[in-house]
Amino acid sequence: MSDHNDLGAFLDLGWQRLTRGVADRRAAARHPVFATVSPEGAPEARTVVLRGASRADGTVEVHTDGGSDKVMSLRANPLAQLMIWDEKAKLQIRLSTSVDISHGNAVVDRWQNVPDGSRIAYGASPKPGTPIPSAASYTKLASLDWFTVLTCRIESIELMQLVDPHRRAVFKASAGWAGEWRVP
Ligand SMILES: Cc1cc2nc3c(=O)[nH]c(=O)nc-3n(C[C@H](O)[C@H](O)[C@H](O)COP(=O)(O)O)c2cc1C
Repeated sequence: MSDHNDLGAFLDLGWQRLTRGVADRRAAARHPVFATVSPEGAPEARTVVLRGASRADGTVEVHTDGGSDKVMSLRANPLAQLMIWDEKAKLQIRLSTSVDISHGNAVVDRWQNVPDGSRIAYGASPKPGTPIPSAASYTKLASLDWFTVLTCRIESIELMQLVDPHRRAVFKASAGWAGEWRVP
């Protein structure tokens, strides 16, 4: 059994559960909640697919439609939080990030790896969120022109685990990922 008081092992567990989400469709970390702040200052949370996670770079990656509201929000305020509840590990993971938005030539390599069937998620006419007269009154463009990569640079990781006794810790990039325990 791992030491309940070992911060390093706790962070290892967080990354293990996180990276599993990239490869395993059934892993909890496959579908983080991605929260941004609207230009008016309102919270906006939605489900996304975790497309990449690099402990070495301190980043996670999300793919989206460049016409979606979240991209407009991130242009106004690049801060975003990703949240995962991993029931098997009884672990909540919160990543506080600053997001770089990439499209066009910079993401052609990633676009080539998107299966044909998944490309419909990128590009819609009219743009995502536009009011329409009936449910299917839109066309999917499946276009590189709208394919957008969000590289989320992690500023801090907060882990909260429902073991007995509960434990919670924060790890900051600015501190070289040194962690500290917090009251759960
Ligand atoms: C299981 C699931 C996975 C999703 N994955 C993504 C994704 O990877 N990228 C994305 O932009 N939207 C994804 N969506 C749709 C978003 O939740 C959201 O509805 C859409 O991106 C529009 O959000 P916005 O208007 O706040 O930008 C997913 C939805 C579900 C239910």
